[in-house]
Amino acid sequence: MRIGILTAGGDCPGINAAIRGVGKTAILEYGMEVIGISSGFLGLINEEYIKLDENVLSGILTLGGTILGTSRENPFKKGSAFNAIDKPKLIRKHYSELGLDALVCIGGNGTQRTATQLSEEGLNVIGIPKTIDNDVWGTDVSFGFDSALGIASEAIDRLHSTANSHKRIMVIEVMGHHAGWLALYSGVASGGDVILIPEIEFDIDMVARCLKKRAISKKPYSIVVVAEGIPTPKGETAASYVSNNIQEMTGLETRETILGYTQRGGSPSPMDRILATRFGAFAVELIARKNFGQMVSLKGDTVTSVPLPEVGGKLRLVPVDFPLVDKARRMGVCFGEKSC
Ligand code: F6P
Repeated sequence: MRIGILTAGGDCPGINAAIRGVGKTAILEYGMEVIGISSGFLGLINEEYIKLDENVLSGILTLGGTILGTSRENPFKKGSAFNAIDKPKLIRKHYSELGLDALVCIGGNGTQRTATQLSEEGLNVIGIPKTIDNDVWGTDVSFGFDSALGIASEAIDRLHSTANSHKRIMVIEVMGHHAGWLALYSGVASGGDVILIPEIEFDIDMVARCLKKRAISKKPYSIVVVAEGIPTPKGETAASYVSNNIQEMTGLETRETILGYTQRGGSPSPMDRILATRFGAFAVELIARKNFGQMVSLKGDTVTSVPLPEVGGKLRLVPVDFPLVDKARRMGVCFGEKSC
């Protein structure tokens, strides 16, 4: 069999481990051929390919980013009428000209949605969930999240010492798109006093009140972790909105840090290397069994799969009754709620 593999959407640590998991399993266990497709779905439109053999796959397990490159190209997005290239038709054409028996799509929500649409157009597709946001429906976790969590937690740990030296409030903005998983987990992992996530409505007055209470009880500093996706006035970052309001409402010296793309860079954590490898290997097993139209997923500690149509277009957000939120709240973490 000949399989194609592409990586699309925002990059993250672990993608190369997944490519390697697919490639080595396909080649060594099943004697398959593997074709790498450049820059996500764009590579299938523009016919940009690279043959993936053991030499190309060697040494990429620990490498950040993606050796295939990525893009946010959505072939089903309606372009302007005058240059209406039928991209899905081109993809189908190039898929069959390549002689592919299956296509593995490594990506987040948008990628899995496109994978579903291509599957509905008759291509044999397997999705693998990746994103630092951990917001792909149908899997307990996506690889990329653990690495970003480690980066964010290490950064927040560092901010404790400088906050303590200056007796300041430190506001740290982490990524996560519309989900609060990274902010919640890195905030709890690194002793955040306030954690603001899109899933829990917050009142900035309550945040200020909580921080004033801490200052009055002689806490030398406070750490405020905010998800980039919390509601803010148009054009204002989460970090600046929260830190400016804290400074104005409390008079306490406040500084902001936006971690940004550092959370997407560098070598994957060991857990992400393992998860990405497991996902890649299982994707090939699904192909060998001709069980297409599936997305690989983790349920508990079992790698399994879910039908792609169940995944596309849904977001996996932090449930408001998530046990970790309740536990943190009971330990005094402020989520900016009325009951703070
Ligand atoms: O989905 C991953 C992510 O890093 C989000 O956390 C972030 O909001 C977005 O991608 C940034 O998108 P881009 O890489 O296109 O700037």
